[in-house]
Amino acid sequence: MLNLAFRVWLFLESRDGIIALTRIRLAGEEDLPAILAISNWAVQHTAANFAVEPERLEDWRKDWLTTRREYPWLVSVDGGGEVVGFAKASPWKGRCAYNWTAEVTVYVRSEHHRQGHARALYGRLIEVLKAQGYRTLLAGITTPNPASVRLHESFGFHRVGGFQRVGWKFGSWHDVGYWEAILDADPGPPAQIRPVEEALRAASSTS
Ligand SMILES: CC(C)(COP(=O)(O)OP(=O)(O)OC[C@H]1O[C@@H](n2cnc3c(N)ncnc32)[C@H](O)[C@@H]1OP(=O)(O)O)[C@@H](O)C(=O)NCCC(=O)NCCS
Repeated sequence: MLNLAFRVWLFLESRDGIIALTRIRLAGEEDLPAILAISNWAVQHTAANFAVEPERLEDWRKDWLTTRREYPWLVSVDGGGEVVGFAKASPWKGRCAYNWTAEVTVYVRSEHHRQGHARALYGRLIEVLKAQGYRTLLAGITTPNPASVRLHESFGFHRVGGFQRVGWKFGSWHDVGYWEAILDADPGPPAQIRPVEEALRAASSTS
């Protein structure tokens, strides 16, 4: 059921029993510095992200402002109010026939890995995207990245292909694989995508 429960706290239990408390909610402009810090950590320390220099807040603000109406940006906020992870969707390509396809991604602060934040974020993100009417989700993963591959496959994504040696970072070439999840296999014409807030309002009025 899509109740999104943005107001409730979730208890996350990891394999070694640590329990974290989190709340998943839509990101606001005030969350962008924390979101960018999480992404920039991955830029500087991993090949999961192909930026090679830290990205700028004004560019992320522009991206958030232009996409947030139709693509959800979610944050996971711990008991102390700190943003520890985010997940978002973005357009896969600009041409209109792609309107029902979204690209998704998720990042969690390294000191909070394996506490269930990414699972909680993706669970909500995918619920919202379904409610909006998206049909197909895609994720590009620099391989190897067993954490991200397992996470995506646990949400029904399967590998559909990949490119070899498409990124040069940290002195070596990197491959990128693509994973796809079909949210709705109905062969008929899709309804217009609902804006994020409208899908949330409709869901909360029926739950
Ligand atoms: C991938 C990432 C988002 C996972 O976040 P997380 O909060 O640690 O993940 P969760 O604790 O919610 O784990 C959910 C599932 O992901 C998989 N997973 C997470 N970390 C894993 C690891 N180190 N090894 C194998 N599987 C892992 C497991 O299937 C796990 O479920 P389980 O605990 O029941 O086995 C995190 O490692 C990260 O931010 N990495 C850097 C950025 C990145 O690679 N993002 C993905 C871009 S495509």
